Amino acid sequence: MRKFLMFVLLISVFTSLNLSAAIYKGQREFVRNCAKCHKAGQAFVATKRKIEWRSYTRAKGDRLKDIHLESKEASKSHRYFSSKKFSKNVRHLEDFLLEYAKDSGNVPACN
Ligand code: HEC
Repeated sequence: MRKFLMFVLLISVFTSLNLSAAIYKGQREFVRNCAKCHKAGQAFVATKRKIEWRSYTRAKGDRLKDIHLESKEASKSHRYFSSKKFSKNVRHLEDFLLEYAKDSGNVPACN
């Protein structure tokens, strides 16, 4: 029984570590690739609810990509949105965006 409890404990620790690692990666992605145009990152992330963010990031971020590729004003982001890096990292980005969405109740720390 004790072994089993240890096992459960370990699994939950690993899961939460893993999740925060993903959120951290997503935050880094946001800071590097979105913040230059969408300043005040925290406030920007908190303008949308989880369900809205998910609609942007689903299907490898298709909608997010299209919005930017169709906008001349966002031309500086075209290389990034067309890159493999974006389609690969968009899942981390999603973890981050959902974590701090308007209805998440979370506020990111500034570090
Ligand atoms: C080069 C500048 C630039 C970069 C980099 C950029 N965006 Fe944008 N983004 C824009 C512009 C300009 C628009 C408005 C497009 C339009 O509606 O014509 C926009 C629109 C959006 C929208 C929808 C409109 C809104 O404000 O609700 C979302 C969501 C968004 N961007 C998220 C992101 C995310 C997430 C990233 C990083 C992965 C990112 N953007 C990177 C310039 C940028």
